[in-house]
Amino acid sequence: MGKFITIDGPNGVGKTTLVFNLANRLQESGHSVITVREPGGTELGEIMREWVKPGLAEPLSQAFMCATSRVEAIAKIIRPALAEGKWVISDRSVASTWVYQYYLGGVDRMAIERINLDSMLGLEVDYSVILNVGLDALRERIADDNRGYRGMSRRDMDRVYAGYINWRGDKSMLIKSEQRFLSCDDPMDVCERVLQYVTGLK
Ligand code: TMP
Repeated sequence: MGKFITIDGPNGVGKTTLVFNLANRLQESGHSVITVREPGGTELGEIMREWVKPGLAEPLSQAFMCATSRVEAIAKIIRPALAEGKWVISDRSVASTWVYQYYLGGVDRMAIERINLDSMLGLEVDYSVILNVGLDALRERIADDNRGYRGMSRRDMDRVYAGYINWRGDKSMLIKSEQRFLSCDDPMDVCERVLQYVTGLK
């Protein structure tokens, strides 16, 4: 069996770059690696992605759409890849649904936990990384990004930021494996730290 790694965190924190660098480093060390993103990855998932953009759908609808995307990706891409011994890195996972649809969107928490649980199809995450950075640094990164807040108000972005901090302290987390909360403020390269985690060095 391969390994399933999820990378989560607020918009603009650098998840996508980390996923790319991590995939390259794992490939260099001889692993066969695929990357997926949530929502997305399958035909249906990419349609869901279009509809999860801020302001288009109700938060509960967003939760169902993200769950749909996850189910399709796990059944059609992730499980088969793991069975072939591949390492799978997912850009976002259940923490995003918890933060965006429960903490920001106000959907009932039990509903979100149920949706998250069911949409994983019993699959367990081997390594879960939540990437973060100081709020001021994140605001600067987002200001430099010509996509701006990607359709979100600054207030909502701040709430997402707080959501990830709260996810850390939440007692009923679905992820059974130990999660790593890594800060980009740390001078050590974040990809190196994730490599240490997934290779069991630290
Ligand atoms: P991004 O990963 O490129 O930033 O875009 C994904 C968007 O989808 C982002 O705004 C967060 C949102 N999203 C949710 O609202 N709920 C979810 O469960 C997931 C996976 C993503």
